[in-house]
Amino acid sequence: MKKTKIIFASGNPGKIKEMGYLINKNLNGFETELLGLKDVGFTDEIIENGGTFEENAEIKARAVFDKTGMICFADDSGLCVDDLNGAPGIYSARYGGKADGGDGNARLLRELKDVPDNKRTAYFYCAIYCVIDKNTSFCVSGKCSGIITREKTGEGGFGYDPVFYYPPGKKTFAEMTDEEKNKISHRAIAAEQFAKEIVKYMIEIK
Ligand code: IMP
Repeated sequence: MKKTKIIFASGNPGKIKEMGYLINKNLNGFETELLGLKDVGFTDEIIENGGTFEENAEIKARAVFDKTGMICFADDSGLCVDDLNGAPGIYSARYGGKADGGDGNARLLRELKDVPDNKRTAYFYCAIYCVIDKNTSFCVSGKCSGIITREKTGEGGFGYDPVFYYPPGKKTFAEMTDEEKNKISHRAIAAEQFAKEIVKYMIEIK
């Protein structure tokens, strides 16, 4: 079967590969080939100045669609901690300041030092925004709830994985294999929702 080419507005080859896997396993026989920004020669800087994950994902997807005219989607994700009123949220990538040597995990553990176990709830969130054509777009999201640990635990993963304990798995994200995380993560849930929506357009765009 011919693969439908869709742009994923990302320059990170690891992310493109993971997203391709997460989407294709939910397409019920259809298949997509994800093109990254490099594949389509997109080099403009995109200013993500939205106030929500959804807005930032839309800004990225529209910027690339406007330039290429091809079906394009973008994601935006981060960690939201209840006791910090949802911080670091959309600022997750830049949360670690000078005081913590640029380490977001160090800042998070410091900010939550005096917060009791029952108030350390948090969730990872991922929004995916997709532009089909000038008049058609959709947005989906995924959420994964857990608890912020008191110290980094586990060697795998990236970002906040070592401080995010997932109670049903009895492990932090950093202690999980990629396969385990890919079954329950915010990105996996959003990708599953995305697959359910995009498949509706697959016949038309073939
Ligand atoms: P992005 O929008 O996917 O680039 O994610 C923004 C930031 O959120 C990353 O730099 C990480 O700090 C954090 N983040 C998003 N997803 C994850 C995850 O699955 N594990 C750990 N950190 C994550």
